[in-house]
Amino acid sequence: MRNLKTPKLTIVGAGPGDVELITLKAVKALESADIVLYDALVNEELLEYAPNAEIVFVGKRLGCHAYTQDQINDLIVSMANRYGHVVRLKGGDSFVFGRGSEEIDYAVKFGLETAVVPGISSALGVPAAAGISLTQRKIAESFWVITGTTSDHKLSNDIMLASKSAATVVILMGMHKLDEILSIYQQNRNDDLPVAIIQNGTKNSEQKVIGTISTIAKLAAEKNIASPAIIVIGEVVKNTSKLTEYFQEHFEDEFIFQNLNL
Ligand SMILES: C[S@@+](CC[C@H](N)C(=O)[O-])C[C@H]1O[C@@H](n2cnc3c(N)ncnc32)[C@H](O)[C@@H]1O
Repeated sequence: MRNLKTPKLTIVGAGPGDVELITLKAVKALESADIVLYDALVNEELLEYAPNAEIVFVGKRLGCHAYTQDQINDLIVSMANRYGHVVRLKGGDSFVFGRGSEEIDYAVKFGLETAVVPGISSALGVPAAAGISLTQRKIAESFWVITGTTSDHKLSNDIMLASKSAATVVILMGMHKLDEILSIYQQNRNDDLPVAIIQNGTKNSEQKVIGTISTIAKLAAEKNIASPAIIVIGEVVKNTSKLTEYFQEHFEDEFIFQNLNL
């Protein structure tokens, strides 16, 4: 039987992980979904907002993609024609390293109605929740959000450019290239520049380390910090509102205090 609903795609940002960091508009989109296609970084508790929808996982688990991007694009179109309203639920914001615009473009080619619901990107929400202010008067006048791994698996050249500025730099998908990133900073800046790495930010499983260009790799390795994580580099990290409390809890040996000249 032919579907009588208008085929529609809504691209929805789910936020960084804490279920309360989704928007009301996203919840409404989920409530009206006929099918939800969701990614690995999405907190699965959010699927409860779509009790009447078919739910399909299309992300990456244990390093393997459940579907290629081409297959996801085709799935969106075929599912919209079959069921009606497809919600494509992605971690953070769909337009920040989320390929949301590619999916919209593809759907438009096939005549689907489309809509976008912004989400809180991990690039902004994770540092904020950890008390790191990306800009601060007299300390950082701007921030960069850069991918550590480009589509051809290289380190983005923007990291070299950003390391020469006084800006705060937030690197996503950078953990596999941490050593390369730190050596660029060692060439262009001083070893004492503060760095934070936050894994699973805003989730119950959040882990973080704060150190400097010269200490952070060891600290991250000791705590087994790995993807998904963001790397925040810049003087603002030193001024995080939770830093003192954090150090008291985790680094009572004062090792890092000395490194940061606190
Ligand atoms: C493909 S990108 C997607 C980013 C997403 N669209 C956003 O706006 O947050 C995936 C990367 O985002 C970062 N990321 C996403 N959620 C995170 C979280 N809760 N904590 C730390 N990093 C996160 C990690 O660097 C991860 O490798």
